[in-house]
Amino acid sequence: MVLRALWRELTDPGCGGRSHVLRTENLYFRTPIAWDLPAAQAAALDDDAQYRLGWTTPGEATPSGPARTRALNTAPAVATGHRRAHPTLPYGLVALTSRRDRYVGLVALKHDPGTCEVGGYLAPAFRGQGLGRELFGAGLRLAHEHLGTATVTAECEIDNVAATRSLCSIGFVPSRDPEPRELPNGRVVIGCRFRRSTTAPTRCRASRSSTT
Ligand SMILES: CC(C)(COP(=O)(O)OP(=O)(O)OC[C@H]1O[C@@H](n2cnc3c(N)ncnc32)[C@H](O)[C@@H]1OP(=O)(O)O)[C@@H](O)C(=O)NCCC(=O)NCCS
Repeated sequence: MVLRALWRELTDPGCGGRSHVLRTENLYFRTPIAWDLPAAQAAALDDDAQYRLGWTTPGEATPSGPARTRALNTAPAVATGHRRAHPTLPYGLVALTSRRDRYVGLVALKHDPGTCEVGGYLAPAFRGQGLGRELFGAGLRLAHEHLGTATVTAECEIDNVAATRSLCSIGFVPSRDPEPRELPNGRVVIGCRFRRSTTAPTRCRASRSSTT
């Protein structure tokens, strides 16, 4: 146990290169590397998540339930300095359990100058436990405290109560009237837009040294 904990600390050098690390009460977040992608995608390919995210069209071939479970049960990669030098999603974070032994989900930031849009999802086994606020909260902290972004926005479907409550519980407030928008698969939803700002955004070591 002690060796395992020591290994975890040795392989967690914190933010550096273009990679970020964040902890919340129950979860550990880091910039994803290539090894993480199958599990990170599997976490969102069930029908409930796809209904909300709209990446796929109904009937489209996607990995089966057992294939998704296998991907999600893969041991998360140990993101050593070498691997961390090649992040796949500079403005996203993969969520792991605090012991870093299971994949939990992904939070992504769409980065425009001066503002970021946060979105994300949890794997089915981790929904319904209040972890959405930690997930979106990690995206918010990445933007405000690591990337120096003052304003963060988020959008979700008007009846997505879990997402709305998760966002509002960490200080997002509605920023305009609900309006129709189209998901990637063409489903038109009524989207609610939220915003949260800080007057004192900061940049971490990784963003200060990064050119991207
Ligand atoms: C959105 C998501 C991240 C939310 O995280 P979560 O941890 O599962 O959220 P929870 O189910 O714990 O719900 C959060 C809150 O909403 C409440 N809630 C959820 N569904 C509800 C419903 N149908 N009616 C009333 N309250 C509801 C919960 O009781 C909880 O309340 P609390 O704040 O008082 O604790 C997660 O459900 C998910 O990954 N969904 C699929 C993808 C998705 O929708 N992504 C968002 C796209 S913008």
